[in-house]
Amino acid sequence: MKIGIGNDHSALELKAEIVGLLQKKGYEVIDYGTNSAVSCDYPTYGKAVGEAVASGEITQGILICGTGLGISLAANKVKGVRAAVCSEPYTAKMARAHNDCNILAFGARVVGAEMAKMIVETWLNTKFEGGRHQKRVDMIMEGEQ
Ligand code: RB5
Repeated sequence: MKIGIGNDHSALELKAEIVGLLQKKGYEVIDYGTNSAVSCDYPTYGKAVGEAVASGEITQGILICGTGLGISLAANKVKGVRAAVCSEPYTAKMARAHNDCNILAFGARVVGAEMAKMIVETWLNTKFEGGRHQKRVDMIMEGEQ
């Protein structure tokens, strides 16, 4: 399973922790940057990971900026993307189970490394429940037409 990761300058250390976790768990990780501490524009990385999910290049994506907000907003502009900011595991679980989110976002200035790892593990280990939730996800995606 290929997981893409993207971030801005605020999240270099946290990204390294998350990439380490993913690799330890056996995931193939594609890093879409940034890998520089120089202040950069988070939409670049949100868009790159969003497009990679939409094209099928990666299965799921993880985005990290200061809050998780700007980078997820950018990703959500790509057709086919459902990105959610999750600051704790319960929301991460529901983002998969009910909303079939294909991108997880969180803030490097909001969550610590251990909380972020729990969020990532919960999100990756939860399957979409389908059923009545499929209709609702379809209704969300109709908004793209
Ligand atoms: C960068 O300072 C900050 O604005 C960015 O990381 C993010 O929090 C935006 O939503």
